[in-house]
Amino acid sequence: MNIPQDNVDPDRTMILVRELHKSFGDIHAVNGISFEVKRGETYGLLGPNGAGKTTTMRMLSALSPASSGHIEVGGIDVTEHGREVREILGVVTQHDGHDSGLTVLQNLTLHGYLEGLSKSQAKERAMEVLTFFGLEERASANVYELSGGMKRRLAISRALLTQPSVVVLDEPTTGLDPQSRNRVWEQLAVMKRAGVTVLMSTHYMEEAATLCDRLSIMDHGRILDEGAPDELVERHAGEEVAQVRTRSDAVLEQLRERLAGTPYRLNEVGALVTISSDNGHRPDISDIDGVRVTYRPGNLEDVFMVLTGRELRDE
Ligand SMILES: Nc1ncnc2c1ncn2[C@@H]1O[C@H](COP(=O)(O)OP(=O)(O)O)[C@@H](O)[C@H]1O
Ligand SMILES: [Mg+2]
Repeated sequence: MNIPQDNVDPDRTMILVRELHKSFGDIHAVNGISFEVKRGETYGLLGPNGAGKTTTMRMLSALSPASSGHIEVGGIDVTEHGREVREILGVVTQHDGHDSGLTVLQNLTLHGYLEGLSKSQAKERAMEVLTFFGLEERASANVYELSGGMKRRLAISRALLTQPSVVVLDEPTTGLDPQSRNRVWEQLAVMKRAGVTVLMSTHYMEEAATLCDRLSIMDHGRILDEGAPDELVERHAGEEVAQVRTRSDAVLEQLRERLAGTPYRLNEVGALVTISSDNGHRPDISDIDGVRVTYRPGNLEDVFMVLTGRELRDE
């Protein structure tokens, strides 16, 4: 599929966000965030519900004005030239709006037509996109027959119809079962190989770790840290973390005492205690009686926990 590339500068910044703020009355939904996305990168905003991800994406897509700050997409100032920005941007919102009386192909064709293609161009483009994503056999299925996962994939296909150089995806797999999630991930991988620049939000750490070249950890309208998934894990959680399932308060108390004043950090979620070490190495707590310790690699969930003291999931 033909993705427009200007070939001028492979390091070109496609998204630039500086000191962006958005308030709703007293709520600082986005509270001074800055980040950049280079061409061809997949960049994630990882954070729980209410972190400010959707608000950020809406401002970036010129769907909602910023309270203050600066945003550029493809070198175009979003505040000044919202319409031009929407022309180079594909947007997949958190809830897809499909016309459910139509077939998949009709839905895409109608969308292309509304975006300014001629009817025959729209149809040609629609078939191209369906083939690109291996969805051509679903072209004549009615939209209401599609599973949740297929609807998401149709929404992503639709965003690519107008050959955007930047695609914004708000929680592309929220609410999907693991198998459908995998299919969406495959679709996003195809898009990435084609050189599309992607900004996506998610509250699934596994999704962020799998798809994103770099990401921001967001909470309460702020970016807590930014980096490649591995870098973030190394910086905050370490290569390996220890886990202990505490069977009694006495064991938990013993564990807390043992770890006080050590370079180990302890995070308690119910009966499950996760221990990470400042130097990133495997924490050694083998000398505590009656405690069975298991070890696993650190992950972005641990990073969020270390940075906020809370769990990322299921707020
Ligand atoms: N239109 C709005 N009016 C008032 N508050 C809003 C509005 N949109 C979002 N918010 C608030 O802004 C904060 C961030 O929301 P949102 O950007 O939707 O977060 P996320 O997408 O990360 O879940 C939340 O506290 C939310 O309640
Ligand atoms: Mg949201």
